[in-house]
Amino acid sequence: MRKPLLVAALMLHTILFVKAQEISSPDKNLTLKFELQENGVPTYQLNYKQKQVIKTSKLGLETKDVPSFLDGFSISKTEQSTFDESWDPVWGEEKTIRNHYNELLVTLTQKAVQDRYIRIRFRLFNDGLGFRYEFPSQKNLNYFIIKEEHTQFALTGDHKAFWLPGDFDTQEYETVTSNLSEIRGKMKAAVTPNVSQTTFSPTGVQTPLMLKSKDGLYINIHEAALVDYSCMSLNLDDKNFVLESFLTPDAIGDKGYMQAPTQSPWRTVIVSDKAADILASKLILNLNEPTKYKDVSWIKPIKYVGVWWEMITGKSTWAYTDLENVQLGITDYSKTKPNGKHAANTQHVKEYIDFAAKNGFDAVLVEGWNQGWEDWFGKTKDYVFDFVTPYPDFDVKELHRYAASKGVKIIMHHETSGSVRNYERHLDTAYKFMVENGYNAVKSGYVGQIIPRGEHHYGQWLVNHYLYTITKAADYKIMVNAHEAVRPTGLCRTYPNLIGNEAARGTEYEAFGGNNPDHTTILPFTRLMGGPMDYTPGIFQTQVSAYNPENKSFVHTTLAHQLALYVTMYSPLQMAADLPETYNKHMDAFQFIKDVAVDWDETHILEAEPGDYITIARKAKNKEEWYIGSITDENPRVANITFEYLPKGKTYEATIYADGKDASYDKNPQSYAIRKVKVTSKTVLKQQVAPGGGMAISVK
Ligand code: NOJ
Ligand code: CA
Repeated sequence: MRKPLLVAALMLHTILFVKAQEISSPDKNLTLKFELQENGVPTYQLNYKQKQVIKTSKLGLETKDVPSFLDGFSISKTEQSTFDESWDPVWGEEKTIRNHYNELLVTLTQKAVQDRYIRIRFRLFNDGLGFRYEFPSQKNLNYFIIKEEHTQFALTGDHKAFWLPGDFDTQEYETVTSNLSEIRGKMKAAVTPNVSQTTFSPTGVQTPLMLKSKDGLYINIHEAALVDYSCMSLNLDDKNFVLESFLTPDAIGDKGYMQAPTQSPWRTVIVSDKAADILASKLILNLNEPTKYKDVSWIKPIKYVGVWWEMITGKSTWAYTDLENVQLGITDYSKTKPNGKHAANTQHVKEYIDFAAKNGFDAVLVEGWNQGWEDWFGKTKDYVFDFVTPYPDFDVKELHRYAASKGVKIIMHHETSGSVRNYERHLDTAYKFMVENGYNAVKSGYVGQIIPRGEHHYGQWLVNHYLYTITKAADYKIMVNAHEAVRPTGLCRTYPNLIGNEAARGTEYEAFGGNNPDHTTILPFTRLMGGPMDYTPGIFQTQVSAYNPENKSFVHTTLAHQLALYVTMYSPLQMAADLPETYNKHMDAFQFIKDVAVDWDETHILEAEPGDYITIARKAKNKEEWYIGSITDENPRVANITFEYLPKGKTYEATIYADGKDASYDKNPQSYAIRKVKVTSKTVLKQQVAPGGGMAISVK
């Protein structure tokens, strides 16, 4: 009676042996199973500590011109290996990063397509999974066009999601926190207006997507090393809770032009039962290539101020004159009437340089220095800026001389007006101009619809453009901070002159109606997973009307919360975004911004829950100094600050910048209290944090 069962079991085992492969993470907490379905459809599953994270999910790509890579596969080879290596980033949250994973490489052959084969490479780390499609060079595979990638992430239930509407052109949305099943109902309200936006589905969302399951798993889905490929969004099947890749199309609807040998970006699933582990994960950086640059000595983290917030608030303007003058055909700006509100004038920029020099800042960003601003916003004009011609009141040479004499750099600004062709036409000249005039960093921007029309900010062509500007900049030893560009995917490891990106709703929105009080408790779990953000914190004058009476917006945090952001929003590029006149009134609190580091030896996530609170401690690079930031959402709380990372047996002085007793983001945002206490590695500090509040601590 037992025999047939045994035979059946053996047979099953053999079939599984051929068709299924399993690996586990180095610490054995995660297991990945690859399996071919009946009709040769590749699938994978992911488990964490015996719990399912990703149920059986299909893999594959649909092509336009050659047979698709979807089914009819057989496994022709599987290879397993282990990798364990540590590397030191040029700048970062840690001095040294460990890259430790077990790998499964599956070669899949389509017999019916002249034995054409692809590979799927899985890397299983202690903190999650990365996998990608590889298309080796071979006789029967050369060019192909992607119609759609069909990578699934089948979730186990109706998780809580921190999501942005899927969009090919912008990420400047508020995060919605809801169950997956509620996305469809909440989509319409979530799609707030933007100068360029293209949504694609009532259940489409962006990555990094942060999820929390009912049984307490934190799951983050994103991509790593997005190169020569379209950016991925996710489309949700909200009956079955299956997410599927949805690539950004080009102007004619194609999603990728490929030529073997090539590969897709990595698809990443970071998972833990502790939220703090998500923030500590280095998986996305580890999946990127080591730096391509031989000399990185010219790449340096930057703390800066800028001629910027005054324009964002409407106090002053980028434009030198009014549009009417330009419409009258006056092209010589020295003959037009100035509007009297142009901020980027030589005298005013010198004031910022003085302020930067006096307070130890590296640089001053100056926007609105070059001709063209009157005549582009919201229009689709091919040639607006040439990136080298200043307005008549901005003296490039004199400012170069003045800044250099004070030991301060000016940060260049290239607003491309979305006209990517025009920018590429001018790029070499623009970078040369920078070098000649002492600039070593540029903030670039892509406001508005992309030109050529029909292309999207996150399509393959644009993805290639952004990387081109970064590598080209490296030829000139220039660092890049790109706004409105595609969301980062860890490429700063390979190209560390990419020191900043926006690609989310930054502080500027506090002057455009406001960000939710929980905004910055979510961003580190979403947008920042791929790389640093130029969030531009440090607004002390939280009432925007103080600068522009017509603007009734206010900042949805307390002043102390703004200080904490220098620690909780990791970036090697940090701005003190408010106006010098305001900082001069709060020099005691400003001291924290002056002191705080922008490069780190160690990072310790002390407390974290997406949407609620984050507390992080970091050790400054090569210094015996620690900085701690703690923020909360609209709900007050008591933060628990521990100091066990301090060297044992030593006493340090901690300066605590806390919310005042009566502080709150909406009623009393500017109330703060500063005190000094002694701390050791054994100290545990309990500190009240106000609604929308925060706290910053420096330890020396
Ligand atoms: C949008 C950027 O995010 C902002 O910082 C910049 O000032 C404007 N574009 C103008 O280029
Ligand atoms: Ca909350």
